[in-house]
Amino acid sequence: MLPILIKYILAEKPQSQDVAICGWVRTKRDMKNLVFVEVNDGSCFAGIQCTFDKSVLNDEKIENALSSLATGVSVKINGKLIPSPASGQAVEVAASSLDVLGESPAENVSAESAELDIQAYPLQKKRHSMEFLREIAHLRPRTNTFGAVSRLRARMAFAIHKYFYERDFHLLHTPIITAGDCEGAGAMFQVTTLDPVSGAKEISSGKNFDYSRDFFAKKTYLTVSGQLEAETYATAISRVYTFGPTFRAENSNTVRHLAEFWMVEPEMAFAGLEDDMALAEDFLRNVINFALDECSDELKFFDAHVEKGIIENLRQVAGAKFSHITYTDAVRELEKAAGNKKDLFEFQPKWGSDLQSEHEKFLTEKVAGGPVIVTDYPKEIKAFYMKLNDDEKTVRAMDVLVPRLGEIIGGSQREDDLKKLIKRMTALELKPEEYSWYLDLRRYGTVPHAGFGLGFERLLQYVSGMANIRDVIPFPRAVGQAEF
Ligand code: 4AD
Ligand code: MG
Repeated sequence: MLPILIKYILAEKPQSQDVAICGWVRTKRDMKNLVFVEVNDGSCFAGIQCTFDKSVLNDEKIENALSSLATGVSVKINGKLIPSPASGQAVEVAASSLDVLGESPAENVSAESAELDIQAYPLQKKRHSMEFLREIAHLRPRTNTFGAVSRLRARMAFAIHKYFYERDFHLLHTPIITAGDCEGAGAMFQVTTLDPVSGAKEISSGKNFDYSRDFFAKKTYLTVSGQLEAETYATAISRVYTFGPTFRAENSNTVRHLAEFWMVEPEMAFAGLEDDMALAEDFLRNVINFALDECSDELKFFDAHVEKGIIENLRQVAGAKFSHITYTDAVRELEKAAGNKKDLFEFQPKWGSDLQSEHEKFLTEKVAGGPVIVTDYPKEIKAFYMKLNDDEKTVRAMDVLVPRLGEIIGGSQREDDLKKLIKRMTALELKPEEYSWYLDLRRYGTVPHAGFGLGFERLLQYVSGMANIRDVIPFPRAVGQAEF
């Protein structure tokens, strides 16, 4: 039988009940005959205090076991739940037995340990830097911060599935290996079983590299987005969403970019940009409310230790309407601000250029004072599949920007007119024949449709206040970083 989780004991505070506690020791305090051991199992923040009264137990085996306890030791403790005299906890365990399941030395110890390369446990009871914890990403879930992040992450994934399930969106598993470039940004990881060395020889001898010899008999990549495949199912079963890993080989070493991240992409048939924006806003509010309700202990911790005021901030966002602004008006606002203060931005805002993160920050924090949806971007800075506006200059795109972070969602109404789509692809030097299956959706029973992509880690960053995106995914992959 599985042991009772500590979170249930602390929440329900059952009295005079026999329990078996399983977990890892956080701290041990020796007070003459009394030894206090705090045990944590990661089911919640708090550990439970287990009190050993040596004068009552009078057991040499237990005393020896107690003397070997240190931070990180795994234990099983039997005892009775009693009201706790200590402040801050309702119950504690009056312990009657102690099994050490696995040691965890506090210092570099014996010769045998050295042979097995057992060093002192790196997570001693003190504050560790995020950089250090990233190096031991396999142990960092045992800290309060990463325990909280991992519980938040798992619950938010559930909230997302719940949101879509309750609204008739069907989960769609799109391929991880693809032959096409959805975003046309070219930042893709190639997938091949061919040896790059012999390939390089082939090329240097003037031959064209022969991909027909490769596993898939063509050039393939890790997907950057499941959108194009999602469109095929949305134009058949009306409403779908994907939730899977996506990969970008962008060389951007920033606190909001990963090479491997999880994306949520709803796609709806018979929908336009207005429907898309309404869905994005309702969805964000809904999952933020879920976090406020279901992860309140974690949010309290983030509020106290990571980002002051985050709970109030999330409450406001969940309660307010998002502002809307067109890209053209946004650039006008930025230019106006830059005109009044020359060194406001590093990059001067200009119609036709992509918004930089400093611009996004300014728009959310200074212009909108909260989340803002920017629409109708110039077609040159957006992907080929976005629906062209009547002005023939801008497309039906929308980005949701939030304070602290900038872009959290990117979406659009899709071009459903076959001729216009082919024209746009040709202008971008994409070969329509390579997207024949995608164009079929416009050849046969085309409908207006729209969708968006939410970066799951960006959402987690936003909700937790964690500054670096590498700290909201268990094993981050970024430029020069693929440990574990
Ligand atoms: O704006 P993006 O590139 O849009 C798409 O991929 C569309 N196909 C989505 C769609 O319409 N179905 O990416 C969507 C979101 C961004 O807003 C951002 O939150 C996140 O994905 N994102 C990243 N997150 C972490 N690391 C990266 N390198 C990211 N690139 C994008
Ligand atoms: Mg984008």
